[in-house]
Amino acid sequence: TTGTGQVTHQAEMVIVANRLPFDLEQQPDGTTRARQAPGGLVTALAPILSRRQGAWIGWPGTPDVDLDPTENDGISLFPVRLSQAEVDDYYEGFSNDTLWPLYHDAVNPSTFDRSWWESYQAVNQRFAERAAEVAAPGATVWVHDYQLQLVPQMLRRLRSDVRIGFFLHIPFPPVELFMRLPWRQQIITGLLGADLIGFHLPGGARNFVRLAKSLVGVSTTGTTTMQFDGRTIRAGAFPISIDSAGQASLAATPEVHETARQLRKDLGNPAKIILGIDRLDYTKGIDVRLQAFEELLLAGDPSVQDAVMIQVATPSRERIGSYIRMREDIERRVGAINGNHGRIGRPAVHYLHQSLPREELAAFYVAADVMTVTPLRDGMNLVAKEYVACRVDGGGVLLLSEFTGAARELRTALLVNPYDTDGVKEGLRTSLTMPTVDARRRMRAMRRQVLTHDVDRWAAAFLSELEGTRDVLAEAAGR
Ligand code: ADP
Ligand code: F6P
Repeated sequence: TTGTGQVTHQAEMVIVANRLPFDLEQQPDGTTRARQAPGGLVTALAPILSRRQGAWIGWPGTPDVDLDPTENDGISLFPVRLSQAEVDDYYEGFSNDTLWPLYHDAVNPSTFDRSWWESYQAVNQRFAERAAEVAAPGATVWVHDYQLQLVPQMLRRLRSDVRIGFFLHIPFPPVELFMRLPWRQQIITGLLGADLIGFHLPGGARNFVRLAKSLVGVSTTGTTTMQFDGRTIRAGAFPISIDSAGQASLAATPEVHETARQLRKDLGNPAKIILGIDRLDYTKGIDVRLQAFEELLLAGDPSVQDAVMIQVATPSRERIGSYIRMREDIERRVGAINGNHGRIGRPAVHYLHQSLPREELAAFYVAADVMTVTPLRDGMNLVAKEYVACRVDGGGVLLLSEFTGAARELRTALLVNPYDTDGVKEGLRTSLTMPTVDARRRMRAMRRQVLTHDVDRWAAAFLSELEGTRDVLAEAAGR
């Protein structure tokens, strides 16, 4: 149940995101139960805000419930109500069946539905109004992700005194793809309400500036500073990360070690454990790694003799057609691989469609000889960084898709093109047979990167640049 601490009503720092960090459920006895919400955004932001004593505005994860503001883990939570129709149209529709596939390289076709757009605008307006109520005079309001791209402009109209930052947690698409969006101009104008717009990669920032020039006519100074509506707006790259030290110390506990040892034993002490941990999402390329593993098994390749694969897939967006179809495909493939290659008491693939506690995930990371992260497109991918942080022993091999943000930073991972089935198969074989010296050298370099670039550094970089935009504004106003 949630804590009894003070709810901060006029907050100096306000996070606005589609989801609260906890899914809140009203219990029959009137108390509220809080469970960590899924996804990388929450993993990254929750530790930052609990250290800064701010407020978080978001949806509690269930439609049609009105909840009072509450406090949990040092964070003041301001629930925003979404009706079932809004969950259908704004969340599952426009956010996850229009924008999500379009921003992920159109790996699936987007649906463009005008009534979804109406709902997206109405819900963005509600989030902006809530932020306007909660923010103290001159506060910093940090808006997150593709579900809320209109909030910066809407909030600015309501509260010209606050500083507004926006961060996109998913890729920002190439110009040619973005141009398909019937509401492209409104989205760009919505984002331009912010003082600073952050992306994972420089390419995303460049795409945005190009679109802002051509669709809205902003003028630019250099490559990332824009003038619009009498204001200066910056776009920049801020690659997100994890609480690296926290993750590493969790992995170093005797409990996690014991669970990892027990896991290996329960699997029958295989020679190699191959791991995948993802939200069950079609962008994650779960099918890609299953295919590679199956082909190696079929070929009787010596690298997979006595190897087992574990795939943990958190349930996600389960009512959307493309997710339903992908789940059926993955589960059929797992069934086929086990039918063809498993033995009694010894399946080739262990598949868990579950959300697991952090401690258990850490034990999986510690136990895994090969971590497979093979998305077709991913803004960053925090699972890759969690694996690296957890390898306190310096062991393990990371097989990583080139099309993740993480691939730009974890240069010594074994990089693969997920569209190249032979390449992924070869990558998996190489991962399973890599000499220890080589694997440890690669892991050492990745650990250096992850441990020195944690989520606090990311937040500090973004917020200090946002602070800088205030100086620019003050100078412009002659203050
Ligand atoms: P995304 O934001 O697209 O879900 P990321 O890889 O950036 O992808 O972040 C996923 C986060 O969700 C990670 O912190 C990971 O530990 C967590 N996670 C993934 N699968 C599970 C699971 N089965 N149980 C609990 N947490 C999970
Ligand atoms: O960063 C990607 C992201 O979509 C977040 O915006 C979101 O909170 C998370 O993944 C999980 O998705 P959802 O909120 O749709 O369950």
